[in-house]
Amino acid sequence: MPLTLAIHPITEIRFAERFLLDGTVVFVDIDELRRLVLEDSAIASVDFQIARPGESCRAGPVFDIVEPRAKSPGGSPDWPGILGAPETAGHGTTHVLEGAAVTVLREQSPGESRGATGYVLEMSGEAGDVYVTDMRLLHSPGPTRIPDEVVNAMARQPTDLADARLPLLIGACESGMKALLQTERAEVFFYAANGHGGWEAVIANLVAPGAAVLVPGTGHFSDGWAEQVEAYGGVAVRTPYREGFPIDPAAVEAALRDDTAHRIGAVFVVHTDTASSTTCDLVALRAAIDAARHPALFVVDVVASLAAAPFAMDALGIDVVIGASQKGLMVHPGLAFVAADERALAFARANPTPRFYWDWQRRQSPLSYRKFCGTPPLAHLAGLEAALALIAHEGLDEVHARHARLARAVQAAVTSWSEGGALRLFTQVPAARAVSVTAIEVAPGIDPEAVRTVARERFQVAVAGGLGPLAGRVFRIGHMGDVNEAMVLGCLAGVEAALHVEGVACGRNGVDAAIAALVEAAR
Ligand SMILES: Cc1ncc(COP(=O)(O)O)c(C=O)c1O
Repeated sequence: MPLTLAIHPITEIRFAERFLLDGTVVFVDIDELRRLVLEDSAIASVDFQIARPGESCRAGPVFDIVEPRAKSPGGSPDWPGILGAPETAGHGTTHVLEGAAVTVLREQSPGESRGATGYVLEMSGEAGDVYVTDMRLLHSPGPTRIPDEVVNAMARQPTDLADARLPLLIGACESGMKALLQTERAEVFFYAANGHGGWEAVIANLVAPGAAVLVPGTGHFSDGWAEQVEAYGGVAVRTPYREGFPIDPAAVEAALRDDTAHRIGAVFVVHTDTASSTTCDLVALRAAIDAARHPALFVVDVVASLAAAPFAMDALGIDVVIGASQKGLMVHPGLAFVAADERALAFARANPTPRFYWDWQRRQSPLSYRKFCGTPPLAHLAGLEAALALIAHEGLDEVHARHARLARAVQAAVTSWSEGGALRLFTQVPAARAVSVTAIEVAPGIDPEAVRTVARERFQVAVAGGLGPLAGRVFRIGHMGDVNEAMVLGCLAGVEAALHVEGVACGRNGVDAAIAALVEAAR
């Protein structure tokens, strides 16, 4: 009889997967394990081992039994020994392995559990029955799913740095990014970094110690960026953040009008706050800066909106844009970019603060080694080139339209679920609801992490949790990058099923509502 084993946490899954090659592994029945553990009070931990048939077992993760059995006499619906420590349980996942052996260890003396074999469950089981985690729908708002074209491009062998193909690759990334940003006047700088690296690049170039920037409040990510400014000795002037609402242009205008001495050098705006799924109105913010007659640079973080929401750097009068590879750009995490116009470059040149790696001036060079302040991140550039080609092939307008359509489907589903009274769309202003991610607020008493865990473990749909002050209050569905109708419907079905498993009061028609929105869009 094939048996099933639940393995936690996810890092250990990855460890286990190293041995999943050739379909060699098996399954342990969790009920069988539970029965053994409940019956035998000497068992202190469960050691999970995998071996190819005929090979000796290799050590796998060890799961401590974290709650005394006395608390669950006769068996608990939950088996804490498998679930691991509570803080890791949220990252847990269920995995089915074929061809493995599982060892339940007896504790022989206090503290000694490894190597004391009590039960060995030798599994047989047919090969080819392995759950592949790639089949899980990834609906986190970054990292997002990566198209095969990008995966393949990133798997290419590196070239040497004198290879004539390298400047072509870099040139394609630069011109593709400019087309995507819709700028002819900005220069693009790439960094082997994540989004925080992009923030750091902007701060290092534009914010001298003691200099001020205005960071309008839009939630978790404006807070993070402001903190980073302060860590560099800058002064972050914040506007108030109202939960569920976008940046208030009037507050921005007022803060700039108050700054009669023009101490504020730049306005740092997060276009889409990924934590709250709220998008601000960049046209209104540009107008607010102009209405205040303030010379501050307009700097925009498009990490969670680029290649999803319409954006045009030059037309919007934006001086600096920062972004990262792992969201709408559909590339592995690890590549950040900054685009800066001449006004911003001049501002940076006048900033005497020491800097090196991030320095725009140093990177303004035709030499690829200088452009990247060292060896270029070749795999990421190859991935970006492929991703930009996919976006260009689909057409930017169509990419934006697809994101808007899919976002409406997700919002329709959540609106339908909300009828049960336990959930609601976090962003209160419909026009400010992001096209790339949707935060769903749950009523007090509902654990969004439990919903996430069930969605991932039982229904193979990975969604995100709440960040910062929204932790435990929301879960988030990402719908940006390489997504289509079928993926979104699959995701919504998995989430709806998880909500029902968790007993959350919600209607059963969320997926129907999403289909109706998509049908409407198809007419
Ligand atoms: C809007 C926004 N800005 C910045 C960041 C920081 O990016 P990273 O996590 O790659 O450092 C994120 C991350 O999700 C983000 O969503």
